[in-house]
Amino acid sequence: MKYTYLFSIALLLVSLNATDVSGQTYARNGLVASSSKIASEVGIDILKKGGNAIDASVATAFVLAVTHPSAGNIGGGGFLVFMDATGSATTIDFREKAPLKASPEMFLDKAGNLAKGLNHTGRETTINHIGAKSIGVPGTVAGLYLAHQKYGSLPWADLVQPAIEIAEDGFLLTWSLFERETNFEANSPIPFLKAYFRKDGGELTQFGELWKQPELANTLSEIRDHGKDGFYKGVVAKEIVKFMKENGGIISLKDLKRYTAVERKPLKGTYKDYDIYSMAPPSSGGVALIEMMNLMELADLDAIEFNSTAYVHLLAEVMRRAFADRAEHLGDADFNEDIPLDKLTSKAFAKMRFENIDMAKASVSDATKFGQLYDGSSTTHFSVADAYGNAVSLTYTLENSYGSGMGSDKLGFIFNNEMGDFNPVPGNTSTTGQIGTNPNLIQPEKRMLSSMTPTIVAKDGKPYLIIGSPGGRTIINTVFQTVLNVIDYDMQVDKAIEAMKIHHSWLPDSIMYERDLLSPDTRKALEAMNHKLIPVNRLGALMGIQIDVKNNIMIGASDSSSPDGAAIGY
Ligand code: GLY
Repeated sequence: MKYTYLFSIALLLVSLNATDVSGQTYARNGLVASSSKIASEVGIDILKKGGNAIDASVATAFVLAVTHPSAGNIGGGGFLVFMDATGSATTIDFREKAPLKASPEMFLDKAGNLAKGLNHTGRETTINHIGAKSIGVPGTVAGLYLAHQKYGSLPWADLVQPAIEIAEDGFLLTWSLFERETNFEANSPIPFLKAYFRKDGGELTQFGELWKQPELANTLSEIRDHGKDGFYKGVVAKEIVKFMKENGGIISLKDLKRYTAVERKPLKGTYKDYDIYSMAPPSSGGVALIEMMNLMELADLDAIEFNSTAYVHLLAEVMRRAFADRAEHLGDADFNEDIPLDKLTSKAFAKMRFENIDMAKASVSDATKFGQLYDGSSTTHFSVADAYGNAVSLTYTLENSYGSGMGSDKLGFIFNNEMGDFNPVPGNTSTTGQIGTNPNLIQPEKRMLSSMTPTIVAKDGKPYLIIGSPGGRTIINTVFQTVLNVIDYDMQVDKAIEAMKIHHSWLPDSIMYERDLLSPDTRKALEAMNHKLIPVNRLGALMGIQIDVKNNIMIGASDSSSPDGAAIGY
């Protein structure tokens, strides 16, 4: 039925290049779905100039650093999954690294405790997320540069230039950015962040007024003119190190010079007739996603109604198991040779894990073993498809929304606080607290474990669904459910993104659910099965593209929870 529908859309597109229909965008030549309409438009411009999906991704990522500064960045890191027209897939890992001077106990006080303090938004937080020591060596510029060197086609300078122009000429401040500005004005203890959105003269930029970022434009110009070296060497690097010295940070010139992004084999799994390509460690996203897909393959979903009690219970039990394994085993594979990747992503392991799911009652997460309280929830994802048949799924982050909130007035960009993604207290694993397992303890030059799950689902060797989301640990689960919604519940990508999502992460032992989307009867039934329920407004902000190869249609969707986002096509 879905394909009949898509076929009628195909006929509609005979005379149209692209059309927007309430939340979806249909296109044939290229599509970019990102959390900033301006960034998506720039990506499309690059495609129209003959650039490929990598070119468009580089340009989109740099523009997001200007127009979506809560997570779009040059001061953070992330992952890119690329599938070319022949069906060959690869990934670029540009996750931040711990500085050379970092150590496993660096955030502990004399009594061995993880103290708390006020973060950049004025909220109480553990200190591994606060201040210049929380900044990991940024990876974004190196990652985009590596992706471009290996797979780009247009000149590098042409891809950085649009972001420079938008930073220099300014863009109209959106309502969501204005709200952030007033919030920082009232609550942030960090002068850089308080002044971040202000005009030259120091007064607040109002909603709808031009917001210019001349210092960021200068930094981006260095990157345009000198490539990766424009960030990791030269005047920008010197200023980063000066900033670190003045603010108690530990990143050195040596750290910046030694930083490299890495091309890695994607993690590959299968689900029914589909191939799943996602991110290997240091992300936990791909491992957990593939483990959960393998578990779901063992369930008879034809007999389980979407959004029913049985469905939510099954999802929660599957998530519980995958997140327990995540907590126990995962960290940067460059520092952990014994991560059992093949086992965790195997069908046999899934069978063993599936066997003890009781469909009548909730299991209990074992509080004496592993747990995890916190992961940053502000990240951003975009998906790109081009006319050549290439696809990119890219997620990158500053960790918390606006990262550490810190930055140099001369450079104009925000530094991450990604060191908070390491396990901060060795050996301390608790139901309410942290994970203290070895694989993700802090070590010099190690990459901290991530939950980012940029994913490409392929059918018959071609990209079929390009998907990802922000949301800390919830990312893995929102991507997981969106894939299920498309494949098993026959939803088009826009519906799949908007549909009800839940999140369970083993510990805390509870189900978060989108409050308006789960019926009171289902909630009651779940509670009777011993599930603890926690309502939240929304989970995820997914950006997706579905490709109907047969009818040559791309369908893009930007989650309605992303206020400035848009899927643009042509
Ligand atoms: N900082 C969020 C993540 O990498 O999962």
